[in-house]
Amino acid sequence: MKHYLSINDIDSLHDWVDEAITLKKDPYLFESLGKRKTICLLFFNNSLRTRLSTQKAAMHLGMEVMIMNFGNEGWALEYGDGTVMDKGTSEHIKEAAQVVSQYADIVAIRAFASLVDKTKDDAEEVINGFAKYATIPVVNMESSVGHPLQALADAITLKENETKKRPKVVLSWAPHPKALPHAVANSFVQMMKLQDADFVITHPEGYELNPELTQGCQIEYDQDKALENADFVYVKNWSSYSEYGKVLSWDTNWTMTQQKLGQAKFMHCLPVRRNMIVEDAVLDGGQSLVVQQAKNRIFSAQLVLKKILENL
Ligand code: CP
Repeated sequence: MKHYLSINDIDSLHDWVDEAITLKKDPYLFESLGKRKTICLLFFNNSLRTRLSTQKAAMHLGMEVMIMNFGNEGWALEYGDGTVMDKGTSEHIKEAAQVVSQYADIVAIRAFASLVDKTKDDAEEVINGFAKYATIPVVNMESSVGHPLQALADAITLKENETKKRPKVVLSWAPHPKALPHAVANSFVQMMKLQDADFVITHPEGYELNPELTQGCQIEYDQDKALENADFVYVKNWSSYSEYGKVLSWDTNWTMTQQKLGQAKFMHCLPVRRNMIVEDAVLDGGQSLVVQQAKNRIFSAQLVLKKILENL
């Protein structure tokens, strides 16, 4: 594998999850693999889990780690071909990506959706620009369209907690005061399509995700109905895709409660707004898997870096 840009770069989810669980048992087993190799983590947006878990994963593999908050410390990048750069941008992605490639062996990038320009966001100009012009492998640490490291960690967490062969997994929208991107939900959907599970997506009308991604998925607008007999409930807010980037509803009837959760396990990628997305009782109770999901971010990143290092 050269790049890890989306869930489509996973050749066998089942094998990857098993290998990540093996790595988790002995994280330093491959500590020589990354010796004298450098990973550069470029953040155009904030992070807690992605930054620290990817750094930790690289450390387990013996790598050197360089981190830059590109969003507020780097030059404003230009992506257009043939642009006369007489406005706000100072450096072209062509040079930036090639220059980073002189300093590191792998580059990992976080660049969220603008939620303003759907065409540009769907084109993933930052991550695809780096993949096009860098001469080293590129890892997606959440782009405008996907968060494949999170979805791989979620697959690991599902496997660790499954009690039946074909669990019922529900992805439920929840209210949030700000417009949030679709990346986590998109990658979760893509990952679930690779699973043997009864998978249901529930959200208010108007919150349909990109239909190209949800094609073939069961969509249920009645949250109570969707949650019946669920084994896992993954809760996430996202803004409207059809009315791009808009918040259409704050309906707190969609907030996840202990009563609605029933016996199911609760999942969320974090950070989470308490008593907006989910009530305290769920997060503080024994059915919440959110900290385990965050821990598994180390091993999803470590598996991806290991596969790339083995191919360098
Ligand atoms: N889940 C996740 O990606 O967390 P951060 O935004 O804190 O990295």
